Amino acid sequence: MHRDEKRLAVEGNGGDRREMQVKWQGRRENCHPIRSDPESDFVVVHNGIVTNSAELRLVLQKRGYKFATETDTEAVAILTKYVFDSHQDKELTFTGLIKAVLKELEGSFAFVFKSHHFPNEVVTARRGSPLLIGVKTDKKLKVDFVDAHTIETLELEIAAIMKGKFDTFMQKEIYEQPESVVNTMRGRVHFDDSKITLGGLRAYLPIMRRCRRMVFIACGTSYHSCLATRAIFEELAEIPVSVELAGDFLDRKTPIFRDDVVVFLSQSGETADTILALRYCLERGALCVGVVNTVGSTLSRETHCGVHINAGPEVGVASTKVTVMIALQLSEDRISFMERRNQIIAGLHALPGQIKKVLELDASLQQLAATVSENKSLLLMGRGYQYATCLEGALKIKEISYMHSEGILAGELKHGPLALVDENMPVIIIMTQDSLYPKVQSAFAQITARKAQPIVICNEGDEGIPAGVKTVRVPKTVDCLQGLLNIIPLQILSYHLAVKNGCDVDFPRNLAKSVTVE
Ligand code: AGP
Repeated sequence: MHRDEKRLAVEGNGGDRREMQVKWQGRRENCHPIRSDPESDFVVVHNGIVTNSAELRLVLQKRGYKFATETDTEAVAILTKYVFDSHQDKELTFTGLIKAVLKELEGSFAFVFKSHHFPNEVVTARRGSPLLIGVKTDKKLKVDFVDAHTIETLELEIAAIMKGKFDTFMQKEIYEQPESVVNTMRGRVHFDDSKITLGGLRAYLPIMRRCRRMVFIACGTSYHSCLATRAIFEELAEIPVSVELAGDFLDRKTPIFRDDVVVFLSQSGETADTILALRYCLERGALCVGVVNTVGSTLSRETHCGVHINAGPEVGVASTKVTVMIALQLSEDRISFMERRNQIIAGLHALPGQIKKVLELDASLQQLAATVSENKSLLLMGRGYQYATCLEGALKIKEISYMHSEGILAGELKHGPLALVDENMPVIIIMTQDSLYPKVQSAFAQITARKAQPIVICNEGDEGIPAGVKTVRVPKTVDCLQGLLNIIPLQILSYHLAVKNGCDVDFPRNLAKSVTVE
């Protein structure tokens, strides 16, 4: 089981929660809470991983305890019962009991324990994994923090995480992008004098400018955000940038040095592989910078410095804009880049209005979804900045609609993927006008020569697209920001494909990362 799969949300009772847990975990008996025995002496909700659970399981089985699930959590529940049973003659508090249990555990975890032996008490504990507890203000709840850190009060607007007039959270997040862009830039991009202020980085800018290289580390969509901005970073900061998938970075035991700057991107700030990669880099003395959406999350707490994305809960690809802002700030002392910087800052200014225009394409994208939904696969092609857009579009289509989709670097077509292309294969090609436009035109010619009928994402007013070709036209912006507009039709398309295929877009199967508040 992937470490992230254990990011279960603790919610109230009810059918929704049970249904959701079944989707995530596959088997009902593996769903949390997990109990110690048929009488439910102890029940446990767990996030994280207990790495010595197999050994504990063996020891407990030898002592006659029966296991009903495949989870590591059950070893903890049964161990709690075992410790309790062995201490029955002594005065043992619930907290004392859990402390004794924790001493036996290895790994990274957060727990909530309840027991009918200790009525009206809840004990929570964490090591490595995050634990957030919401406490109703009009009721008193006794909670013992066995492994307590600085308890923080986080302001979270409930309204911001409700669906409002939208059918799904995904739709709401897509439609709120004009506002989330503004929120990300608020107080940071000063359009009057073309200045960028990222307060969380100010003290570290000299170190960042002097570093020998930058390494961006993330997973999934956040990784695509890193890819999408690598070129502008290299151009403006003139520092070599590598982009790493956190899991692979760890698998390779990648060399990291004290004079490296490592940037960790994460929407949640709680992705296990990204957190492990952060700790790996901290141990090696690199400067660790967080670009994180969730205030108070593990990544935002454990990095040396950073920037909050401020995009509201769980919004698509917002972190792309933050990384562009970092690149802009790093280059502020370079006169030679002034014109380029001003061009990008003007592009940021126009972005919210342009996003609104792209959202108007919804109805035509719904029709497009109807034409491709019967197909088994969908290829997305682009190059340069738009390669990341293709990868992200393909990921969204896969994870939401369960349709196979692949992002292909247009320059790689002749090295293999062209074999997939024929009159039956739906292809979307991104041909917005940047310096690589002529090269993408040549990719377009290669696939149409194989009888493909590509759908072209291009700029409004582009007359270079042959007549009769299906187009999705988006406003033109600066090359490094164009992906922020181009991704929106792909988000909307994936949404309609999912609805058409009867998929629940907010609770994709086999994914733990779901919106958990209804
Ligand atoms: C979920 O919609 C994303 N597609 C998923 O890939 C996500 O980006 C990834 O799990 C990383 O999450 P994070 O940004 O919270 O670290």
